[in-house]
Amino acid sequence: MGQLRVGMVGYAFMGAAHSQAWRTVNRAFDLPLSARMSVVCGRDEEKVAAAAAKLGWEGHATDWRAVVARDDIDLVDICTPGDTHREIALAALAAGKHVLCEKPLANTVAEAREMAAAAAQARSRGVRAMCAFNYRRVPAVALMRKLVADGRIGTIRHVRAVYLQDWIVDPEFPLVWRLRRDVAGSGALGDIGAHIVDLTQYVTGQSITGVSALTETFVRERPLPTAAAGLSAEGNGSTGRGPVTVDDAALFLARLDGGAVATYEATRFATGRKNGLRVELNGSLGSLVFDFERMNELEFYDAALPTTEQGFSRILVTEPDHPYMAAWWPAGHPIGYEHTFTHEFRDLIEAIAAGQDPTPSFADALQVQLVLDAVERSAAASAWVDVETALAAV
Ligand SMILES: NC(=O)c1ccc[n+]([C@@H]2O[C@H](COP(=O)([O-])OP(=O)(O)OC[C@H]3O[C@@H](n4cnc5c(N)ncnc54)[C@H](O)[C@@H]3O)[C@@H](O)[C@H]2O)c1
Repeated sequence: MGQLRVGMVGYAFMGAAHSQAWRTVNRAFDLPLSARMSVVCGRDEEKVAAAAAKLGWEGHATDWRAVVARDDIDLVDICTPGDTHREIALAALAAGKHVLCEKPLANTVAEAREMAAAAAQARSRGVRAMCAFNYRRVPAVALMRKLVADGRIGTIRHVRAVYLQDWIVDPEFPLVWRLRRDVAGSGALGDIGAHIVDLTQYVTGQSITGVSALTETFVRERPLPTAAAGLSAEGNGSTGRGPVTVDDAALFLARLDGGAVATYEATRFATGRKNGLRVELNGSLGSLVFDFERMNELEFYDAALPTTEQGFSRILVTEPDHPYMAAWWPAGHPIGYEHTFTHEFRDLIEAIAAGQDPTPSFADALQVQLVLDAVERSAAASAWVDVETALAAV
């Protein structure tokens, strides 16, 4: 069997999640290529060596440029903050490496446009690029999309999506990279709002055409990080305080091109909500509800049933006939967060082996970036903003 030799950049949260998936993907699924965990890259020699040993990588490196230049690497997996995505992805694509890039694709539309153009150009050389919106690969989400595509809820009228976290409620939580525009691009909007934008467009098959938004930054100054302090804090020995330069929360109304209207809310100030990603669709023939805190379930209201039997039913999405589930356990044995990455890598490997484009493509991710940009411009202007179409944009 051929190999897919992977070089991964970044080894913290996403690096660990991706490592787990690279380790398991060929054990869970029968695939045409075998993923080989060739090298992991960080900036600190000692830390990246320890990460390589812990996460199961054959080797380690301290310069991603050297990884990209290696002849024995087929795919570069980008698990670093947004300010590095463009540079690493462009170099990897130019070097003929397939690229998997974490979301959001970039920090600005200009960067995302350049990356999508480079991916389109690389495609003509058989080089593939994918953006890692992993929630698409939750089996219940894939089932939701199938039920919509099969017409089971009819014409979609409403899309209601929230992504709620609470890890920065404490005003003394440090100024980690996710709170800095120069590193993260935006705040809750790009970090978690991007997921619900992608997810709702994926399950409905409809694209957002315009938005009316507001954003808020509740805590405008925070202590500089001095040591590891929760989600992705990187200590740099600094003291004092610095400005928060991103949104803490983003809310917006949207129209979709299939006629649906939508509401979105992304915040890291929803006290008590840890990773509350919830999407509800209301259609002319029924409704569907997905809640990540119950990720093995899908709620379905089928208005085609006799009125005496109507009601929300809870589908336990663990049958072998459900998307991805034949690879796992007997029916009724749930899976978890990490499986979304394994599923994502299965789809990526199959696409590469088949000479096809994996999804979401960089063009798909550019379209999400255009929505995020429209949200920011709408909030700044207190006005409705149309979303540029991605095809015209590439
Ligand atoms: N798909 C998801 O559900 C999901 C979840 C969390 C994060 N993300 C995305 O993944 C990316 C990384 O986020 P994270 O939570 O893993 O961050 P993190 O802070 O936990 O890890 C970032 C890693 O990148 C490394 N790094 C930073 N700059 C680097 C450089 N120039 N060269 C080499 N290494 C560098 C850091 O040392 C660290 O290992 C972001 O784009 C984020 O939005 C996606």
